[in-house]
Amino acid sequence: MPATHLPRRGDRIRAALVLGTRPEAIKLAPVLRAMSASPLFEPMVISTGQHREMLDQMLQRLRMDSSRDLAVMRDRQRLSGLTARLISGLGEAVRDDRPDVVVVQGDTTTAMTGALAAFYEGVPVAHVEAGLRTGVIGNPFPEELNRRLVAPMVRWHFAPTEGSAANLRAEGVPAGDIQVTGNTVIDNLLWVLERGEGRSAFATSRRRVLVTLHRRENQGGTMHGIAEALGELAGRPDVEIVLPLHKSPAVREALLPVLDGLPHVRLVEPLDYFDFAATLAACDLVLTDSGGVQEEAPTLGKPVLVLRTTTERPEAVDAGVALLVGTEPADVIGAAHRLLDDRAAYERMATAVNPFGDGRAAERVVNRLALDLAGAGRSTESGEGDLAVA
Ligand code: UD1
Ligand code: UDP
Repeated sequence: MPATHLPRRGDRIRAALVLGTRPEAIKLAPVLRAMSASPLFEPMVISTGQHREMLDQMLQRLRMDSSRDLAVMRDRQRLSGLTARLISGLGEAVRDDRPDVVVVQGDTTTAMTGALAAFYEGVPVAHVEAGLRTGVIGNPFPEELNRRLVAPMVRWHFAPTEGSAANLRAEGVPAGDIQVTGNTVIDNLLWVLERGEGRSAFATSRRRVLVTLHRRENQGGTMHGIAEALGELAGRPDVEIVLPLHKSPAVREALLPVLDGLPHVRLVEPLDYFDFAATLAACDLVLTDSGGVQEEAPTLGKPVLVLRTTTERPEAVDAGVALLVGTEPADVIGAAHRLLDDRAAYERMATAVNPFGDGRAAERVVNRLALDLAGAGRSTESGEGDLAVA
């Protein structure tokens, strides 16, 4: 591994937060807030622009300024072209900015190439939300591969749960390089709800079902089948569905022909994070293939039907608040009817649990980086140890 450049004692730690998609902005916002509040850090945001409208919406609403925007998004971008534009732009950005640490988050292609660009430039990498695994290389696609590629390049693995830390140890990552922090998404969810600025997108007092769908491996026929199941669900006399549509044309092509114009189905543009959090807080049931939503719903005690065949977030299923129902229309509709008709089954799932953290994950990330990069005794707070997450 090339030599890394540690900041001189007394210098501020130049931390480059690399992000490009909606969930990365949401999950790195608390890290940016914590670094901005610390005299030890000089944070900068390198935006790849892997997403456009959905990213800009979050950056503006969460007041995150980027120092660079690589503007890589293309309509219907293919993974190879996206990866090529990202590695080229990020390589130059890291070379020009010379940060002391590059922080990447999660499993996107922005995160994978951000780590690779930093590795090539000899800058140490911190990975927020490290260690999640489904064990199936092609699912989710390409995120499981992205996460596995990132791991060997990382100096600090910030694992959200004990389970994700165990995954990393099983792959040979030294225990001392791993810290269990909780997930920063919970920090942001609690922060946003506390401000109380969001508005729910539900319009009636029917049973409120919130749906999000976007995964590449679900696009096409699978997503079309799920749409038909949602149409059938909306046929119930007691249900209202809110579905914020992802900007991806492939998602819209699968959903709109089936769902557009159906009564009691509200197809809305992507909600800003304040409104999404309020909508989640107001709902009765969540159907989703999203990673982040699987983490947020348990905190609010909202039962989740996970519309996927695998999950790298088994903690919510283990806690009893999520069910991995797969993508077969009959399974989706069957599970939804059961929860809406069987009060006891619903109540068993509608229990608020916190398997993904206590809202202080970013503080732990920033403390650890301060300790290791600026020297012992210079942490932003008490230098607390690992978070024990049940
Ligand atoms: C990406 C991530 C996925 C993450 C998801 C969060 C990869 C390979 N995929 O998936 O891990 O879960 O973001 O939402 O990193 N588009 C717009 N405007 C936008 C955003 C997207 O028009 O603001 C359209 C473009 O046509 C773009 C397409 O959506 O080509 C797909 O975007 P892309 O980032 O490649 O994949 P996602 O499915 O959004
Ligand atoms: N989200 C949002 N507005 C929406 C839909 C989702 O703010 O209309 C938030 C949601 O709260 C979660 C994140 O976006 O924090 C999840 O993003 P997405 O599902 O696109 O990606 P994933 O988490 O699957 O990578």
